[in-house]
Amino acid sequence: MKNKFIIEPKLMNFKGEFCLTVLLFLIVGLSKGQPKAISPNLFGVFFEDLSYAADGGLYAELLQNGSFEYSPTDHNSWNSFTSWDFLARGNYGYGILDAETTSPINKNNTHYLTLRIENTGKLGIGIANNGFDGIAIDAGKKYRFSVWLRSKGGKPMNFKLSLEGNRQNMLGRSKVSCKSSDWQRYETVITATGSSDSARLILLAEDTGTVDIDMVSLFPEETFKNRPNGMRKDLADAIAALHPKFMRFPGGCLTHGDGVANIYYWKNTIGPLETRKQQRNIWNYHQSFGLGYFEYFQFCEDIGAQPLPVLAAGVSCQNSGGVRGTGQQCVPMEDMPQYIQDILDLIEYANGDASTTWGAKRAAAGHPAPFHLQFIGIGNEDKQTDDFRVRFKMIYDAIKSQYPEITVIGTVGPNYHGEDYDLGWQFADSIHVPMVDEHYYESPKWFIQNQGRYDSYNRHHSKVYIGEYASHGNTLFNALAEAAYMTAMERNGDLVSMASYAPLLANVQHISWRPDMIYFDNRQVLKTANYYIQQLFCMNSGTLYYPSVVKSESGGALQDSVMAASAVENQEDGSFIIKIVNLAATDKRVKFSLPKKFRTYKVALKTVVSGQADWMNSMEEPDRILPRVDSTVEVLPITLELLPYSLTVIKMHK
Ligand code: AHR
Repeated sequence: MKNKFIIEPKLMNFKGEFCLTVLLFLIVGLSKGQPKAISPNLFGVFFEDLSYAADGGLYAELLQNGSFEYSPTDHNSWNSFTSWDFLARGNYGYGILDAETTSPINKNNTHYLTLRIENTGKLGIGIANNGFDGIAIDAGKKYRFSVWLRSKGGKPMNFKLSLEGNRQNMLGRSKVSCKSSDWQRYETVITATGSSDSARLILLAEDTGTVDIDMVSLFPEETFKNRPNGMRKDLADAIAALHPKFMRFPGGCLTHGDGVANIYYWKNTIGPLETRKQQRNIWNYHQSFGLGYFEYFQFCEDIGAQPLPVLAAGVSCQNSGGVRGTGQQCVPMEDMPQYIQDILDLIEYANGDASTTWGAKRAAAGHPAPFHLQFIGIGNEDKQTDDFRVRFKMIYDAIKSQYPEITVIGTVGPNYHGEDYDLGWQFADSIHVPMVDEHYYESPKWFIQNQGRYDSYNRHHSKVYIGEYASHGNTLFNALAEAAYMTAMERNGDLVSMASYAPLLANVQHISWRPDMIYFDNRQVLKTANYYIQQLFCMNSGTLYYPSVVKSESGGALQDSVMAASAVENQEDGSFIIKIVNLAATDKRVKFSLPKKFRTYKVALKTVVSGQADWMNSMEEPDRILPRVDSTVEVLPITLELLPYSLTVIKMHK
């Protein structure tokens, strides 16, 4: 492995060996017990629009395919009518519904519906949207409806608007009237008079005529921080409650896309919603981009997380097109200058003042102040080909020369070892990339056995961002294996600068990847055992690591298949935090050797997560595993008994 501290034996004579031993002895001796500075941004979150994490998930829009842009390229059977029904209510109603493209609101948003009503019948002709597996509606709550309409010849046309339960029961109503022969946006609020898990939105014309319809939208009035075009509150609250130091977005594989034409292109995701250019999601569904780069930045700011956008390195996913696909595709060399400029423009969009071209666009979206972007990921698990290397270097050099203050994060393949890992590290070393992104999804056993992984990494090479990791499952034991590994991340926090469990969100009706940290349906948010471990580490992170604070009863270090521990000082709030993982089925006892400075500190909080190894939280039993606060301990005892299968976090203050 490239990163190990290797001494070439042939070059060492006895004298050299002796000097080196003395030197190492001195270094080890001096540093033993000494604190070391660790990354203040260690624990964050990884958000990918995977398993309906964005549309049908965090993005609070309740209607599906409201812009009629779904197509068979997203998913075999999909088209402009997906999630919509044509309605002719009552006798004698007659009308025709078509999907059109001839005169759209915007060239990026090509499809709209044309409804020709010959006879409204008794109860109206129109359309119904089924949302994402139904719409969850709560009595008493308000819902903001909007639509773009254009009537032929400017004939005034009135529409009844309603929310209906699955027995056609009325759950709330309102009206809109179209008065113009040009596209215009209309808005109204519906107050729900009843509740349902599977409501539909109904729009019925009360007049004959021809009307074009686009960008139909329904938002709960209450979104996270009440942002317009905002996030679903319960999901956003769950993410905010993790207190992540950073948030990576918009993925994973989603960023480099299924072929170059499918690369996630940030400029398509900003500006007025009706101008955003939607596209297929690599995970076989559709991206409305209602949750786009502005919303990501805003959300990061709202939850106090550093934004970490990841962009393609000018190449697509090496699995493009599936097994019989094309493999890695490249942005043609002649297009690279523009591709690079687009990445530089993103930095200006985030950080430039409002007088700059792209800063002005951010200001126009309602955020004149910069978003303080510090990190940018280039590439995701890419195959280490010459095509990749050339393009990565071009992008990296351009960012370095124009924005030297930005930390570029490179990529070293999809695994903790192997060809792309080795070549990726070699390449990063050769051009001095400041940080690289390692990914691994492994068994709990692997995480337990590999706690020493970073102890031997060379400290003079790139820093490490563990951008995606998870053990295979959501049991308590999985979460504890991750916790043990996270104590090792803290121990190596001088090298491991950032880490994010992946993926973050999954809609239970549309899971494309397991395990995930948070599962949800239209009503419920399920926090897994893994979630609570992440939360405890995020909320109890530090800036200085202290070795040898927690020991086994016999005085040994804890870093094995039975126990793991870390001790950090948080210089921001002055606290000292000890975390101890017991991976065994029996009680274990540990003893403490507190650095002098903390001997007078009191225990402010002791939190324990424990249970049976195979316990999991589920929609039926969401609170089976919960952190429990133990308020009985005020002073750190000399020894402490740990529950079987547990994480104990002790926070101490002056
Ligand atoms: O997290 C799910 C996927 O796993 C990511 O999209 C990809 O980067 C990794 O292979």
